[in-house]
Amino acid sequence: MIISDPCNGLIHFARAAQMQKRLAGLIADRLALSIAQNGKATMALSGGSTPRALYTRLSDLPLAWEKVTVTLVDERFVPTDDEASNEKLVREILLQNEAATAHFISLRGDNETLAGAAKAANAALARLSHPFDVVVLGMGEDGHTASWFAGAEGLAMALDEKTPARCVPITARKSTITGARTQRLTLTRSTLDKARLCLLVLQGKDKAKAYDQALQAGPIEDMPIRAILRTPQRAFWPCWTP
Ligand code: 6PG
Repeated sequence: MIISDPCNGLIHFARAAQMQKRLAGLIADRLALSIAQNGKATMALSGGSTPRALYTRLSDLPLAWEKVTVTLVDERFVPTDDEASNEKLVREILLQNEAATAHFISLRGDNETLAGAAKAANAALARLSHPFDVVVLGMGEDGHTASWFAGAEGLAMALDEKTPARCVPITARKSTITGARTQRLTLTRSTLDKARLCLLVLQGKDKAKAYDQALQAGPIEDMPIRAILRTPQRAFWPCWTP
């Protein structure tokens, strides 16, 4: 059963499998509609642990995947075969089975420097139509999304609604949430905003508490997920499961 929390709009799924099944169907329908309308579709995915099972389910759905271009919402500045790489995660979990024929745009590439990687990613992303058809976001207990971490170097540029940049370098303050991977690449607010379908996938009590806190008054810079919550999205599904 799906219920929407009357207080904060969070869509509750009693079980994780229900959320993954429903959201995979939503994504597939949106991608299929964009392909039917425009002959192609684009999707930007977050890393982390919450969306893994969603990507597994999505990879099995029949779709004209050869017309879909997938990229990342953000990436850690690590080799793309590193366990911490979001590219590795998406390639191994999503870009298999039916979805194996989808195209992928790397943020990390094989650049020697963080700035060089951001520059190359910008050039690659500039060739994509805008806005994304699908964006999948996660959120940390600290209220970050993508690699928009409070206090991070590069955060202002990432959140600036007028920045023309699609991808910017981020150096986060080390925390239990960032771990050692403080150098990141992140898509910008102006790039992720206005996706035709924006999903926020949350799991567990701590995330629900952080979401409630993000809904309160306070600077966006303190809890950058607020940039998404405070900008009317075209189709926004903030989802939570225990
Ligand atoms: C990353 C993600 C990040 C993630 C949140 C939630 O690179 O880690 O893109 O923004 O969505 O940190 O991660 P979990 O789903 O693992 O809690």
